[in-house]
Amino acid sequence: MSTLLIGGTGQVGYELARRLAGEDLVVATRSGERVCEGSREAALDVTDLDAVRALIAEVRPMRVINAAAHTAVDRAEAEPDLAFRINAEAPRAMAEACAGIGARLVHYSTDYVFDGSADAPYRVDDATAPLGVYGRSKRAAEEALLDSGADVLILRTAWVYGLRGQNFLRTMLRLGAERDELGVVDDQIGSPTPAWLIAAVTTQLLDRADVGGIHHLVAAGRTSWCGFASAIFDSAVRRGLLQRAPRVKPIPTSAYPTPARRPAFSVLDTGDLTGIGIHLPDWRDALETTLEGVEAPAVG
Ligand SMILES: NC(=O)c1ccc[n+]([C@@H]2O[C@H](COP(=O)([O-])OP(=O)(O)OC[C@H]3O[C@@H](n4cnc5c(N)ncnc54)[C@H](OP(=O)(O)O)[C@@H]3O)[C@@H](O)[C@H]2O)c1
Repeated sequence: MSTLLIGGTGQVGYELARRLAGEDLVVATRSGERVCEGSREAALDVTDLDAVRALIAEVRPMRVINAAAHTAVDRAEAEPDLAFRINAEAPRAMAEACAGIGARLVHYSTDYVFDGSADAPYRVDDATAPLGVYGRSKRAAEEALLDSGADVLILRTAWVYGLRGQNFLRTMLRLGAERDELGVVDDQIGSPTPAWLIAAVTTQLLDRADVGGIHHLVAAGRTSWCGFASAIFDSAVRRGLLQRAPRVKPIPTSAYPTPARRPAFSVLDTGDLTGIGIHLPDWRDALETTLEGVEAPAVG
């Protein structure tokens, strides 16, 4: 079954490309570069909405997976038009094009659609209240896709990391090798989720016609950024990826000001996916599995 994957250079996009390679797969990237063997490549800048529609019309896939997004949460505050173009208008154009040819659209959304004031895991139907431009643009896409008439699957995820791209794991491994002490935010709670897990679950759900609309896809359990950093350092020292762990000093969000406000509590209720037999490992086990893929000293 033919698949068009948009955003093949991103954390999630790359893991998807690797998993789907060998099938009838077209991987679109902004540069048109080849991401992996076993697929055809295409160039697509998703800010060009005509090009988005034209590529879907040309490939005529059975499924489109959109892993492209403006994920620079702080920068989005300064460039809201671009963030909305990439995160909301482009997915809307994809959904309209998919509806026109009967293709399924798989799209990713975020915990940032919530304001983080809850004290129990957010359920899919809980009220959204994004705190910033990124979250608002991602919520706008959810609404547009649900209204589009296309067969859509929207997977809200959070705290995404992996061995590629810019993410907390890679930042910690780099800083951990450089510093004796690190201040890490301790009052934001969420579920660190590796890109490979998102790709693995996505492939399980690709052809599940009975699973549509919005679902929450994160690793099980919860921690703070500080707890995540400590777990990374423990594992990295055990595996010989770091010679010694830096001291991790818990700090409040207020001590690390950023242009975009972030939800304090980002835990998502994944009961609808686990209820249909999808296994979501605990975030600590998922971290260990991720670090097993590191050939020391490959990360840095
Ligand atoms: N990262 C997180 O912590 C997080 C949390 C919650 C939800 N999500 C969602 O999960 C999904 C995947 O995120 P990710 O972390 O894998 O993202 P990522 O690593 O930041 O990758 C973003 C991708 O979007 C592409 N892209 C950006 N602007 C583009 C444009 N104008 N035209 C074409 N491609 C463009 C990038 O291409 P280039 O390489 O050319 O820049 C890259 O391939 C996104 O929907 C994101 O909103 C992420």
